[in-house]
Amino acid sequence: MKSSNLQKEVDKRRTFAIISHPDAGKTTITEQLLLFGGAIHQAGTVKAKKTGSFAKSDWMAIEKQRGISVTSSVMQFDYDGRRVNILDTPGHEDFSEDTYRTLMAVDAAVMVIDTAKGIEAQTKKLFKVVKKRGIPIFTFMNKLDRDGREPLDLLAELEEVLGIESYPMNWPIGMGKVLEGIYDVYHQRIDLFRPENYDGKRFLPLINGNIAKNHPLYENSVYTKVREDIELIVGAGNEFNEKKIQNGVLTPVFFGSALTNFGVQTFLETFLKLAPKPHAVKTVKGDLISPYHEKFSGFVFKIQANMNPKHRDRIAFVRVSSGIFTLGMEVIIQRIGKKLKLTNVTQFMAEERKNTKTAVAGDIIGLYDTGNYQIGDTITEGKLNVQYEKLPQFTPELFMKITAKNVMKQKSFHKGIQQLVQEGAVQLYQAYQTGGYIIGAVGQLQFEVFQYRMLNEYNAEIVMSSMGSKIARWIDPKNLDYQMSSSRNILVKDHFEQPLFLFENEFALRWFKDKYPDVELKTLI
Ligand code: G4P
Repeated sequence: MKSSNLQKEVDKRRTFAIISHPDAGKTTITEQLLLFGGAIHQAGTVKAKKTGSFAKSDWMAIEKQRGISVTSSVMQFDYDGRRVNILDTPGHEDFSEDTYRTLMAVDAAVMVIDTAKGIEAQTKKLFKVVKKRGIPIFTFMNKLDRDGREPLDLLAELEEVLGIESYPMNWPIGMGKVLEGIYDVYHQRIDLFRPENYDGKRFLPLINGNIAKNHPLYENSVYTKVREDIELIVGAGNEFNEKKIQNGVLTPVFFGSALTNFGVQTFLETFLKLAPKPHAVKTVKGDLISPYHEKFSGFVFKIQANMNPKHRDRIAFVRVSSGIFTLGMEVIIQRIGKKLKLTNVTQFMAEERKNTKTAVAGDIIGLYDTGNYQIGDTITEGKLNVQYEKLPQFTPELFMKITAKNVMKQKSFHKGIQQLVQEGAVQLYQAYQTGGYIIGAVGQLQFEVFQYRMLNEYNAEIVMSSMGSKIARWIDPKNLDYQMSSSRNILVKDHFEQPLFLFENEFALRWFKDKYPDVELKTLI
């Protein structure tokens, strides 16, 4: 591929994650997007996979048992001259550090919100990470076909709770049973929900912000209400500002209904216009490597083991950061200086995995791994000698004490722990007082996967006893005094030997801060 072609290919890429609280409609909207892109041909494909009736894959048994997606799926399709890569972020109980890390591999995020519910816990959590990255965030207010909350309230909540400015790209004309359509501020047109109720035309142009006086909708009270709302927004709301969108300071808000496929196509088309191309990635030295750099490079943001239980192989998910990946190329794992030939590489589609021969910056590829890669690894072609910044670690919230069930199997117990911790499956701590092992995670499922893998991959049966949720705060070792440990916190060290406290609750944390006002406590992210 010539360098001008490389640039053209990279510029086509739009790589984003969809975040939402469970049940807001993430799967439904993903499915609609895939249908538009021709990546699936039938609604229900993604859903079927989610509920476990999709038996095509040989993924982890635990995934099948629970009918959930342990792996954050990656889906690719072409639309309107763009190559779209969607990274799914599982929610709720299957929520894990993987979910967070996935957000490190995208250039934008789409936040799906249920108009009846507004901002919910999981969205808030994910949003925090996205905000920190400063990438554009697009909002889709879903389920307009049902009665929801007042659009103005929803926008106010979005701004207040998440601390982001918003700009309504469109505005609902009614909701639920009286949904007439959306007033598309950006395209200056009305998009009718049921054009068949009028003259069959889906779009009505707006002239000076209004529809023709003789249109039956003109006198409709839901439409007059929209006119009032729009006047208010234009007068007192934020202005459309593309730069602010690019910097993640302002979120464009779209209303629609994924289930009835209303507003989704407009959303997709507008999103593809405004979403950024693949970004340059920072190295540990602070240099930025352009996605158009002719040499291939990428970083591992996720490792999924046991994709095929018959072989102890794993898949390392790599975000291509620069250049062109070609099948059979030789790369160096920068951490260990090891050379590897990439001969077995996969890309992920909604319905299948397929072998891939080439990929460019912005794409996600899966490398079959026999134990060479670690999360955060930089891989590069030949002379491109760079190391990308470390992926952030996330402060765990849930903790378990663990011991080996069979004391005779200490060796495999320790080996399993060491390798799985390195891989980033869970975080490991050791209590100062007892020396006992404690593992931490951001989602419950991480523990189950850990236990399962210890048994199946290392033949080590473990006993886990829940300590519930704790607030982890790191302390500078030079400020540490063992007396600070009390019945309301546990003093532990992480696997870099750094001390931290696991506080019982907010109250215990506040108590500590009051008692030691000069001691600084830190979170990971
Ligand atoms: P998630 O991935 O964010 O968890 O949500 P998902 O798409 O699975 O949607 C959750 C539920 O909300 C589903 O109903 C889905 O059909 C429904 N839903 C999604 N978008 C819309 C919408 O625009 N309008 C309405 N009215 N409902 C919507 P379910 O009953 O839980 O599942 P199912 O029985 O329909 O499969």
